Amino acid sequence: MALVAPSILAADFNQLGYEIKDIDKSGADYIHIDSMDGHFVPNVTFGPDVVKGIRKITDKILDCHLLFANPDNYIEAFSQAGADIITVHYEACPHIHRTIQLIKAKGVKAGVALNPGSSPSVLATILPEVDLVLQMTVDPGYGGQSFIERTLHNIAEIHEMRQASNLDFVLEVDGGITENTGAQCVAAGVDVLVAGSYVFNQADRRLPIERLKKIER
Ligand code: DX5
Ligand code: ZN
Repeated sequence: MALVAPSILAADFNQLGYEIKDIDKSGADYIHIDSMDGHFVPNVTFGPDVVKGIRKITDKILDCHLLFANPDNYIEAFSQAGADIITVHYEACPHIHRTIQLIKAKGVKAGVALNPGSSPSVLATILPEVDLVLQMTVDPGYGGQSFIERTLHNIAEIHEMRQASNLDFVLEVDGGITENTGAQCVAAGVDVLVAGSYVFNQADRRLPIERLKKIER
């Protein structure tokens, strides 16, 4: 059984409260929130005040993916807003151990994200410190992009590093996830599937969530 984290980037922002409640009751495990700063990625999305509003209407795990060039400056605000997991990009953090420690010091679970073009080997020294590793399966910034097949090698490598060192972080993927690509990721070692358009483009969100959850390793 995979865990499923619908990405609200694909939700209807005209009725965000309704959309959150809808996925809350449709079997979602986490709610994935992509905060983008217009620097690390070309798009701009949600800040901590939006997370604070979401926190008021759901008890689900808020999985905050910070696509920020300087995430250290925002960790306090996101933790205060009610984030359960804060994930920062390896590519944006020259002092990744310090950043991960900052997140943990707030009592929040800490994740590190890797772009498709980065080698998993750069994570070696930080893996024992993190609660979650997010392997991007598209170049981040937008929803609805196509899954990059070669990221399956990255997933397998991270999973192998986890087993070799007997670590227990959660392995998550994000970008272009469908029933088909999700199954390939889970086979390679993934625990959590983030899915935006695959979930939100369907009228009944229970069906896509159920299909992803049913994927077995
Ligand atoms: C990509 C974001 C993803 C995005 C996934 O930059 O980090 O979370 O919402 O969207 P889909 O599932 O539509 O590729
Ligand atoms: Zn994301």
